[in-house]
Amino acid sequence: MTGTANEQARKTAEGLVYATGFGNEHSSEAVPGALPLGRNAPQRAPLGLYAEQLSGSAFTEPRATNHRSWLYRIRPSAAHPPFVRVEPRAVRSAPFTECVPDPNRLRWNPLPAPEGPTDFLDGLWTLGGNGDATQRSGMAVHLYHANSAMERRVFSDADGELLIVPERGGLLLRTELGLLRAVPGEVALIPRGVRFRVELLDATARGYVCENYGQPFRLPDLGPIGANGLANARDFRAPVAAYEDVEGPVEVVNKFCGSLWTATYDHSPLDVVAWHGNHAPYVYDLRRFNVIGSISYDHPDPSIFTVLTSPSDTPGLAGVDFVVFAPRWLVGEDTFRPPYFHRNVMTEYMGLIEGAYDAKAEGFVPGGGSLHNMMSAHGPDRETFDRASAAELVPQKIDDGLAFMFETRWPLTLTAQARDAGHLQRGYDDVWQGLQRHFRP
Ligand SMILES: [Fe+2]
Repeated sequence: MTGTANEQARKTAEGLVYATGFGNEHSSEAVPGALPLGRNAPQRAPLGLYAEQLSGSAFTEPRATNHRSWLYRIRPSAAHPPFVRVEPRAVRSAPFTECVPDPNRLRWNPLPAPEGPTDFLDGLWTLGGNGDATQRSGMAVHLYHANSAMERRVFSDADGELLIVPERGGLLLRTELGLLRAVPGEVALIPRGVRFRVELLDATARGYVCENYGQPFRLPDLGPIGANGLANARDFRAPVAAYEDVEGPVEVVNKFCGSLWTATYDHSPLDVVAWHGNHAPYVYDLRRFNVIGSISYDHPDPSIFTVLTSPSDTPGLAGVDFVVFAPRWLVGEDTFRPPYFHRNVMTEYMGLIEGAYDAKAEGFVPGGGSLHNMMSAHGPDRETFDRASAAELVPQKIDDGLAFMFETRWPLTLTAQARDAGHLQRGYDDVWQGLQRHFRP
């Protein structure tokens, strides 16, 4: 059954077409004539559809940061029964109060496989986070491990946008605004409030999610880098309109101010036949990232690897940055080439999509993750330090891994399940043991 469903999802995913560009004013119609021309809310919308605006920003925010889409749908979203609060499985939300913030360096193995059929939503497991979902500030780190599609079930997150980072197994994301495929090496973003369903392209799916309660991710400014580079806007793909006309019970789960609420609709709310606007999901292939680095000496700060940033009210200070360590050349002369030892006021959660990471010879595995909280001291492990200190500095291609980081302005507080997890590695500190003193005045 599941194999057939995976195959069907794969077939659908292969045939998808996309609109391109980051933050564009896209417009799309699945049926010719469904999108009204010249106005958003005609007296009668075309084809008997209902017009509805979905706002991701205040109406009055500046044009450059204003997010909204107009949806033309079979039924208005307002037509739904009351939501009832349900106990979440392993999803937690900010403010995180189960544990005190921990200054220790921590590392986890991959999330264990679920027992029994588990879809993306049931497979979400929260590691921790910061801020306050009701204040639209901060973020949460989730992991997921799923083995079945969401069937007659739809999810939306009023608390923030979801940046999904698949590590194992591809996803077919059926959203209100259309379909997206996201496979390991790509990331997908579901904007705040957009409903979606996840189907699997493979037997299991595993990965990471950054739930961003703050300002929507945007591309970082480039400053002296110039008009191009890092993640190029044209490489982002948005869906085209695709709707499902499904009658009968569909469970809609809404994450609202940290709780999960559910209602059973008598139809699928993924019934948007046409839309236009810029509050839209997207996918991005991390291998398209244009890596910029030193061609003389030293190692630039990892902010040079920022794919997306969620700014705060303080210039230059991100609520959360999404950073990728993509394949690149290292050519620095008289330079310790792996990431240097450092203590950082920002908090770093790192994950690994595939391969190995150049500052950790062992123990940091795909699907696992490490947390270096505010001001915790970290850097290369002993083996990496010894090797890189003695290496002959010929040009070197780093192309055996894809690691990423959620870097956030506030310390990250764990959930109890992350603190007590069986897959939390004991003795992570040991990787920095045995760093010899070499000082000889
Ligand atoms: Fe770091």
